[in-house]
Amino acid sequence: MNEVKTIKSYSFLVNGEWKNSSSEKKIEIESPSSEDRVGEVQAMTEHEVNTAVTGAKEAQQHWARKSFDERAQLLYSWAEQLLQMKDELAETIMKEVGKGLASAEKEVVRTADFIKYTAEEGKRLHGELINGGSFNAGSANKFALVNRNPIGVVLAISPFNYPVNLSAAKIAPALIGGNAVVFKPATQGAISGTLMIKALDKAGLPSGLVNLVTGKGSEIGDHLITHPLIDLINFTGGSNTGKSISQKASMIPVILELGGKDPAIVLNDADLDKAAADIVSGGFSYSGQRCTAIKRILAQDKTADALVAKIAEKMEGLKVGAPEDSADVTPLINSKAADYVTGLIEDATEKGATIVKGNKRSGNLIHPTLLDGVTKDMDIAWEEPFGPVIPVIRVKNVDEAIQIANESEYGLQASIFTKNMEQAIQIGNELEVGSVQINGKTERGPDHFPFLGVKSSGVGVQGIRRSIESMTREKVTVLNMTQV
Ligand code: G3H
Repeated sequence: MNEVKTIKSYSFLVNGEWKNSSSEKKIEIESPSSEDRVGEVQAMTEHEVNTAVTGAKEAQQHWARKSFDERAQLLYSWAEQLLQMKDELAETIMKEVGKGLASAEKEVVRTADFIKYTAEEGKRLHGELINGGSFNAGSANKFALVNRNPIGVVLAISPFNYPVNLSAAKIAPALIGGNAVVFKPATQGAISGTLMIKALDKAGLPSGLVNLVTGKGSEIGDHLITHPLIDLINFTGGSNTGKSISQKASMIPVILELGGKDPAIVLNDADLDKAAADIVSGGFSYSGQRCTAIKRILAQDKTADALVAKIAEKMEGLKVGAPEDSADVTPLINSKAADYVTGLIEDATEKGATIVKGNKRSGNLIHPTLLDGVTKDMDIAWEEPFGPVIPVIRVKNVDEAIQIANESEYGLQASIFTKNMEQAIQIGNELEVGSVQINGKTERGPDHFPFLGVKSSGVGVQGIRRSIESMTREKVTVLNMTQV
């Protein structure tokens, strides 16, 4: 007799109640690394989405009146609850998005640290007083009190690759700033997101302050984005979706963390061992499914051969396989993603690129692949694979490296490897990116550093303090004194 496996069903949270959708429709979530179904989440109706948004609006009015210290207490206890649920959360992340177990555990700890730091930073937020007399003598009787006020209801939309961390990175700064949140996790990642909200609920979340909405973006996404009670949208995901959100949001402020094509520029005088080690970990960890992964190498001709050899050698140390074994390179999120990467490799080899290493595939698992001799006519030179493949583009000089780096539609981060600091700073100044890493891999953290992308890589600034500032707005109260 065939055994019928039951599948765990997860509810949504709206206005303090965990519920199943009246649609009676569920979305099954399959693990990227096995045939297992991880669970199912609710496909909410537009009506339920409306209740979530209106409930958040109401809860926000009360929350805005709480002191920073009271708001911080909720965050401290959320961080505590997350750490208590660390094992369950890490295992869920591992199964749901195929991240290596050790990295999944790190994600949970990093998130708790993020939330605690956000609470601290919020408590240190203060306004300023501006003297009117500094502008002209006639305004000497004026004083501007500039304070930071909440924006209202923040719509937080998180991606699959950091289902806990990139959700909390939106929710915690929004809450400390006095906002309410409607949280829509990526469908693949929604179970991890749900567990994270369970931790917040256990921590004493006031009813309606964070409402969890699940469902297909294609069904409820536009309804949420264009909802008149949403006051700000904070999204992480693909650039095309980000652009579409930005257009539909019209006058609603947006913070968008989108794609990247981060180059590692390696100059002739670089420490090649260091560059190779950083390129391998920066490019291949979590199978390259990170917006900040190194996605192309611009190597100066003279040392390119040596660099490529060192990268290939270090790639031997990558663990490829199952998330349960804490592998660095695990199956990609779905077959569409894997097909896309395969297509980019095929296009490059057809046009003359050589495979230094990799290009093996079983199911959605693509072995780490290094392509040499990549030229500008190949798609891999410009497209974001979001997978474990790095192209090497050889350049004659620094100017050519800068030119190719800036030709990209993306502008998230860039790494420069050289011993010449002065030159590194000069090159960094020329690069059209949000951050430049000198002698280090591209990455978002530490999480209190400002984090931003230019061009198709994003809008707005994040990083704990900047995120709080981006999710609050200045309010100016002018005191007009009769006498000074
Ligand atoms: O995928 C986008 C993330 O913000 C990257 O974060 O640099 O810590 O991996 P990470």
